[in-house]
Amino acid sequence: MEPAMENNKGQNNWDEDTSKRYLNYGRYFVPAREQQMRIMVDLLKGLPQPFAILKLCCGEGLLVELILGDIRGATVIGLDGSQVMLEKAHIRLRRFTGRYQLVKFDLADQSWRKLEQPVQAVVSSLAVHHLEGDGKQALFRDVYAMLSPGGAFIIADMVEPATVSGRNVAADAWDEVVRQRSLEQDASTAAMDFFQQEGWNTYRYLDRMTSTIPAICLTS
Ligand SMILES: C[S@@+](CC[C@H](N)C(=O)[O-])C[C@H]1O[C@@H](n2cnc3c(N)ncnc32)[C@H](O)[C@@H]1O
Repeated sequence: MEPAMENNKGQNNWDEDTSKRYLNYGRYFVPAREQQMRIMVDLLKGLPQPFAILKLCCGEGLLVELILGDIRGATVIGLDGSQVMLEKAHIRLRRFTGRYQLVKFDLADQSWRKLEQPVQAVVSSLAVHHLEGDGKQALFRDVYAMLSPGGAFIIADMVEPATVSGRNVAADAWDEVVRQRSLEQDASTAAMDFFQQEGWNTYRYLDRMTSTIPAICLTS
C-alpha cells in the first residue's frame, strides 16, 4: 500500500498526533530500543557520581525512569516539546518525585541552553535528528558549554547514509526490524502494516520530503 505521505510530517515537524502515534507504536518502531536505553545508562554509570543529567526530548520518560532507578543520587531535568509526552512522563516518574523536573521546550530554541549550573551529562535519544545540519552544529557547541569538566554528551540517534544504496539497505533493515518486533510482541504484522501505511520509514521516502533530515535508527 502507498504510504499516507500527507501524514508524514518529517521528523522535524512533530505534533501531538505524532506523539500519540509514537506512544502507541514506539515499542515496535524503535529498533533495539531496550538495548539502546541499557547502553546509555551503562555509559552514564561510568561518570563520577552523584550527578545531574539533562535529557533532551525525554518523551514519555522511559530512559529517565531507567536512569533514576539505576543510578543512585542522579537527578534529571527532562525536556520535551510535547504536552502529551510530558504528562505521560509525570505519571511514569511519580515515584521519583524530588529527583526530576520536566520542562516544555523547543529543541531548536536557544533559551534553555543557559544553565545556572553545569551538568555532568546531556543525554539524547532520537532527538537530534529533529534539527537540520546547522542546528545540530549549534546544539553540539551549546551542549559542550553546559557540561562540567569530564562531562559527556551521549546520543543515540539516526544518521544519513552517504549513498542511495546505503539508504536502501537502512530502509530495508528498519522494515525488517519492525516486522520482527510486531510479530514478537503481538504475533501479528498489524504494527508493521501501520508503520508502512504511515510512511514512518523516512529513509524510504527521503527524496519525496522537503526536509533533508535523515531518519534511520542506529541503535545497535
Ligand atoms: C522519536 S521521539 C523520542 C522520544 C524518546 N527520546 C525516545 O527515545 O523514545 C521524539 C521526541 O522529541 C520530541 N520533539 C520533537 N521535536 C521537538 C522539538 N522541536 N522540540 C522539542 N521536542 C521535540 C517529541 O515530542 C518526542 O517526545
